[in-house]
Amino acid sequence: RPRVLSGIQPTADSFHFGNYLGATRQWVDLQRDHQPFFFIADLHAITVEQDPKVLRERCLRAAAQLLAMGVDPARSAIFVQSQVPEHAQLGWVLQCLTGFGEARRMTQFKDKSAKAGEGAASVGLFTYPVLQAADILLYRPHYVPVGEDQRQHLELTRDLAQRFNHRYKKTFRLPEPYILKATAKIADLQDPTAKMSKSASSPAGIVEMLDDPRVSAKKIRSAVTDSGSEVRFDPEEKAGVSNLLTIYSALTGEAVSALEEQYAGRGYGDLKKDLAEVVVDFVTPFRERTLELLDDQAHLSAVLEQGRQQAAEVAEATLRDVYQRVGFVAPS
Ligand code: TYM
Repeated sequence: RPRVLSGIQPTADSFHFGNYLGATRQWVDLQRDHQPFFFIADLHAITVEQDPKVLRERCLRAAAQLLAMGVDPARSAIFVQSQVPEHAQLGWVLQCLTGFGEARRMTQFKDKSAKAGEGAASVGLFTYPVLQAADILLYRPHYVPVGEDQRQHLELTRDLAQRFNHRYKKTFRLPEPYILKATAKIADLQDPTAKMSKSASSPAGIVEMLDDPRVSAKKIRSAVTDSGSEVRFDPEEKAGVSNLLTIYSALTGEAVSALEEQYAGRGYGDLKKDLAEVVVDFVTPFRERTLELLDDQAHLSAVLEQGRQQAAEVAEATLRDVYQRVGFVAPS
């Protein structure tokens, strides 16, 4: 079975609809006929300052949410990145293969460091994509299911894999991004030309998976649309409405064209009201399940320990190859 790997940062109390529709829903689907490795990227989280207590809690919340979404420990290795030291170790080797200018071209770094202010971004934020390349290459996956915003990091990953293979010996598989076009970039409800993001300026634009369902419904009903009235999928002219149609279609499985027909001659109000109900029906059981899982810390710990062991076995073998090929003396 082809391997898949992906990660998510524990940098918020809840995942949002962008994370779910753009990425983790595909994790659940791919489990059926792939061999998956999914992890919580806590090493990546500390590229910006985190409160230690909050970080630890969010890590467990992330694990609980993944299980509640349907990531199944019987099929997938679910683990915490910092518990598999090979990520950081391979990260170092790859840093030494990465050009300074190459790292500087990463648009996510440019955005995030601009936010931090002149010179204030950490070196970790700068090398973040190289660590991500290590995360991926360690497991030699065929596919990496992510949202559109990770595409450039995947390209760097492939470049580094190729460079290592060429300089030393064929070691890494060149992974393919697995990005579903329809949901690759879920937009902010208040600013539909921007992606839905944890660092958005207003919480009203983000639908959180663990929000009180009534809050989520309200956010949908107050989503920004345009001054027209026709429910039509047109991301250029009607970014807000198109985003709502995307979310609606993804949650119900109804085609966008069918929804357009269904709402022909009706206003945006009807669309929002119905989608709010769809969202409530979706998040209510998800939230209950997550809270139940969080109540059973022993189970969560056992799942993460099993995942750690599965991941470590693969990661250790890859790193051993890498160290040997780079010319490090093996311990006797
Ligand atoms: P993170 O934690 O920011 O997001 C997790 C996943 O959610 C996707 N995503 C979106 N998809 C569609 N629309 C949106 N508005 C949206 N917002 C977020 C992201 O693309 C991602 O797939 N660098 C990664 C974490 C990571 C990783 C890895 C991923 C670390 N190592 C190795 C894959 C492989 C990140 O920050 O994701």
